[in-house]
Amino acid sequence: MSALAMNPQETLSASSLRPVISFHGVGKTYPNGSVALRDVDLAIYEKDFVFVVGASGAGKSSLIRVLIREENVSSGRIFVEGQEITRMPRRKLPRLRRRFGIVFQDYKLLPTLNVAQDVAFALQVTRPGQKYLKDRVEETLWIVGLEDKLRKYPDQLSGGEQQRVAIARALVHRPKIFIADEPTGNLDPDTSWGIVQLLVKVNHSGTTVVMATHNREVVDLVRRRVIQIENGRVARDEVEGQYLREGEATL
Ligand SMILES: Nc1ncnc2c1ncn2[C@@H]1O[C@H](COP(=O)(O)OP(=O)(O)OP(=O)(O)O)[C@@H](O)[C@H]1O
Ligand SMILES: [Mg+2]
Repeated sequence: MSALAMNPQETLSASSLRPVISFHGVGKTYPNGSVALRDVDLAIYEKDFVFVVGASGAGKSSLIRVLIREENVSSGRIFVEGQEITRMPRRKLPRLRRRFGIVFQDYKLLPTLNVAQDVAFALQVTRPGQKYLKDRVEETLWIVGLEDKLRKYPDQLSGGEQQRVAIARALVHRPKIFIADEPTGNLDPDTSWGIVQLLVKVNHSGTTVVMATHNREVVDLVRRRVIQIENGRVARDEVEGQYLREGEATL
């Protein structure tokens, strides 16, 4: 009997879990010749919480951009929920992106919309009924802890509150996969911690979370899977990882 078959846990994961995201030999070279990803193989499973870490320029944002098809891969294949997205025709991309909730470092809130309007705006593309829209917006703002800020405009909100609006906007579709690229990049440590706890809560509700970050404290406190990218390659992939292994030089 093989070692795999003797371990019930591994047998279970090998047989019954299908990755929600998988990368197969993915490479990305930008038109100027910069190589951002080299032969990346990855499998991310349903309900995983994954930190993507690595030095500036390592390839974290590129990994996210090819996953949401904001950039095309140069080689290899990416599957999302069993569907190959690397060859998906352009007209299908809006629907692909709606399967993800996506937030970035800058919140990109619309200055003329209040909190409730901004989150509603994100949902309106799917033409929901008014009652559903209102209930869904209020529920989502409650999840992110902004239920008392519905009528505030971006310039009346702190950075952390603005990021919560961006997260609410990303969650309002009830995506199965939540992707964040440096969501705490502009926030102080306490506020960052609040945002990450919110993402942990989102993950506990059954959403797969992928978060690219430089935030060492957060990664070391949360102790989830850590994928380290170095020079475009996966250099480390640990189940309950830290920002850096003990004994390694600090960046
Ligand atoms: N649009 C682009 N055109 C050309 N080269 C790019 C482009 N975007 C990124 N690169 C290059 O690809 C490599 C990876 O960049 P990427 O933005 O993915 O890194 P990162 O890990 O997200 O860095 P940071 O931590 O600074 O956000 C770098 O060498 C970068 O200069
Ligand atoms: Mg980046």
